[in-house]
Amino acid sequence: MWDYSETVKEYYTNPKNVGSIEDADAIGEAGALACGDALKLYLKIKDGVITDAKFQTFGCGSAVASSSMLTEMIIGKPLKEVEKITNKDIIERLGGLPPEKIHCSVMGREALEDALNNYYGYKIGEKSTDKIICNCFSVTENVIKEAVEQGAKTVKEITDLTYAGGACGRCKENIQKIIDSILGPKKINKEELTPVQFALKVNSILEKEIAPQLALDNGGLELVDIEGKNIYIKLKGTCESCPNAKSTVKNFIEKKLKELIDDEINVIEG
Ligand code: FES
Repeated sequence: MWDYSETVKEYYTNPKNVGSIEDADAIGEAGALACGDALKLYLKIKDGVITDAKFQTFGCGSAVASSSMLTEMIIGKPLKEVEKITNKDIIERLGGLPPEKIHCSVMGREALEDALNNYYGYKIGEKSTDKIICNCFSVTENVIKEAVEQGAKTVKEITDLTYAGGACGRCKENIQKIIDSILGPKKINKEELTPVQFALKVNSILEKEIAPQLALDNGGLELVDIEGKNIYIKLKGTCESCPNAKSTVKNFIEKKLKELIDDEINVIEG
């Protein structure tokens, strides 16, 4: 059984604005009876403001609740404001929808867009060059770019901020591409290692590949500790006595470990 919010239950059991408008100025449709969900939205528009809205729907409780909420959200609102309503807005006003029912809010948004397209005589989307990346939530490329600029670094963080990627997930790959185009490709660990395997591998590289090279100049090193990706070492011999050599050797070790194990390793000397 789906876990519905109290608002969804209320709008399903007592839907507002059910019906049709005889002399509607715009009618929009979405879904298809053959698929089990269909919505017809009727709008009355005067001086650029939606003065009335009614709907007829065939579908589940979420479809009724989403359509009903949508009509309440648009009545009395100027078209310019209504154009910007997304299915995410409908979901928020409903207090959330189960992921399996997100398509009901999408159907509401699509019927609204269809009605406005019919009213204007052109596609709203054609006015802008901004591309829809997440169809489930009508989230555009620019919205995702803005989220990255606000600090989101992962697809999950984009989903938390914009909802994009939060339903069927088909857009996740494209979201990652947008993140990469701004922040650069994500660094990938060369191997998934457990903490013990990681420590053994670090120790082995220090002993077998790095220590012999330092020994050529009468230097050496000791592994002191490992905390996450931080490797604490102590330099010895000639590596320890010269401050310039210290930072060169430390950088050499860090570069080697990053190359062979993990790009996020930090070497801390002292
Ligand atoms: S297209 Fe379905 S979650 Fe984005």
